[in-house]
Amino acid sequence: MSRGARVRRWVILLVPLLLAACADDDGAERRRALGERPGLDAAMRVADPRRGGHLFARCAACHTIGPGAGDRNGPNLFGVMGRPVASNSPRYGYTAALRSVGGTWTPETMDRWIADPAKVAPGTRMTIAGLPDPLDRADLIAYLKSQSAERHSTR
Ligand code: HEC
Repeated sequence: MSRGARVRRWVILLVPLLLAACADDDGAERRRALGERPGLDAAMRVADPRRGGHLFARCAACHTIGPGAGDRNGPNLFGVMGRPVASNSPRYGYTAALRSVGGTWTPETMDRWIADPAKVAPGTRMTIAGLPDPLDRADLIAYLKSQSAERHSTR
């Protein structure tokens, strides 16, 4: 094989790999496009459920996400978007703090919750510092949305 052919073969092999690496970005590109303090709507428009799935590692110590999976320290989260707050896992013993919040899990309420749980429900048992980055939160919300029965049945 000629040198030129060998080089071409490497290029053909490497380009898809490089493209895949770029698609799996850390959000830097989108963050630049969104500017300093993006609103939730703007962040949700570019949210990436795939990256959200990676970020779910920060939740997985306490939460399962699979349909019918058990509770850990926190309740199972399959299908949580759109559900009334403190109801996703009927067998889970929610605190009065979270039960008294009311409402449903919309992108807005979820965004506030994962930014600072103790601010939304003072006294909650979900004692994490929260995710300060708006794009991280939007990606996670997109991922939570994707993990639901409605989503599976419409595919
Ligand atoms: C250290 C353990 C822990 C971690 C980490 C954690 N959670 Fe939780 N989570 C809990 C606990 C405990 C509750 C129940 C809180 C209560 O009853 O006050 C909860 C409740 C929730 C609820 C409410 C569910 C419902 O039925 O209303 C959501 C949504 C949630 N967590 C999302 C997340 C997300 C998203 C992450 C990752 C960013 C996360 N949690 C990380 C422990 C945790």
